[in-house]
Order: sequence, then structure tokens, then C-alpha cells
Amino acid sequence: MTLSNNITLHPVISPEQIRARVGQLADSLKADLGDERPVLLGVLKGCFMFFTDLARQLDLDADIDFVRLASYGAGIESSGRVHMVKSPEVELKGRTVIIVEDIVDTGLTMRWLIDHLAQLGPKRIKVCAFIDKPERRQTPVEIDYVGFHVPEGFLVGYGLDYNEKYRNLAGVFEVRFEPSDRK
Ligand code: PRP
Ligand code: MN
Ligand code: MG
Repeated sequence: MTLSNNITLHPVISPEQIRARVGQLADSLKADLGDERPVLLGVLKGCFMFFTDLARQLDLDADIDFVRLASYGAGIESSGRVHMVKSPEVELKGRTVIIVEDIVDTGLTMRWLIDHLAQLGPKRIKVCAFIDKPERRQTPVEIDYVGFHVPEGFLVGYGLDYNEKYRNLAGVFEVRFEPSDRK
């Protein structure tokens, strides 16, 4: 796919691969949870597609809630600054909280969120990330459930954005910035 400003999108994960993998993640989560009713806590905005697909396939009694964090500015590099734009609304004290994220990259966002939620007294916190990029970590974070391990490339689609674009694509693509070949 060729787009404006010599940006091209190259397929990395297809919708079929996503459907199959999300089903497997839901099965693992369900097996580990047993009879427990968890809080599924999505991290907006990136989680929105993964969250809804996972919640549907999980097919169990769960509380649904979201936080909104921001770490990236408008570009592709993490600023390292994290702030919470929207807090959880469900009482998390004593609960099993499953954080649902689209991607863990430097880990700065997830590290901050886990440390923040831990202060609210949950029984346990588990992390379920659609994409993990452990090679990019700037701080250690344990991810309990990983959809796909993707070492490199700037990814968009299935919730992930570049300057707020491409979130609604059904698959995951790598953005490449091609040099201009004409004046
Ligand atoms: C992206 C992504 C993760 C975070 C990962 O969110 O959705 O939440 O960055 O980066 P890190 O591991 O380097 O901290 P972003 O802050 O861009 O907000 P968004 O979900 O609204 O796109
Ligand atoms: Mn995000
Ligand atoms: Mg973003």
C-alpha cells in the first residue's frame, strides 16, 4: 500500500493470524483464571481492537474498564513521559486485574501503569499484550500473555497508530518512510 509523503505500509500480521492467536490467548487466560471474575483493563486508545476481540473470545464473566495513558507525542519515538488521562472506574482492591495493551515497546508506559495500579491494592496484576518488542525495552516489565513478538519496525493497524492514523486497519503493517524519488 503506497500512501502520501512516500509512506508505504507492508503487511506484518494478517487478520486471519490475529483471529487464531487471539483465540489461543483467550484459551490460556480462561484456563489460568478458573472461576475467578477478572477486571479486564484496557489501555486506550491502542487496545481498542484487541480488547474487543479478546473479550468476545474469552466468553466469561468479567468486569470491563479502561484507562487512558499517553506516552508518545505526535511522532514515532517514545517521549518517556507518561500521564493518566482517564483513571479506572471499577474498584480494583482485591481483584485480579488483566491489563490489555496493544504493544509494549520501551516498557515505560506499562512499567508506570503496573506501579500505579499496585498502589490500589489489587489481588494480582497480569499483563496481556498483543505485540511485545522486548528488544526495545528501557525498563524491565514482565508480560504474562504475548500475542506476537515483533523485534523491529514501526507498526500500525489493529489499534496501533502513526499520528492517530491507521488504527482501524484489520491487520498489522510496518510503516516505511521511502526517500522521495521525484522533486
Ligand atoms: C502506545 C501503545 C502503548 C505504548 C507503548 O500508546 O499503545 O500504550 O505507546 O509504548 P512504550 O512501551 O514505549 O511506553 P500511545 O501512548 O501512543 O497512545 P495510544 O494508545 O493512544 O496510541
Ligand atoms: Mn497505547
Ligand atoms: Mg500511539
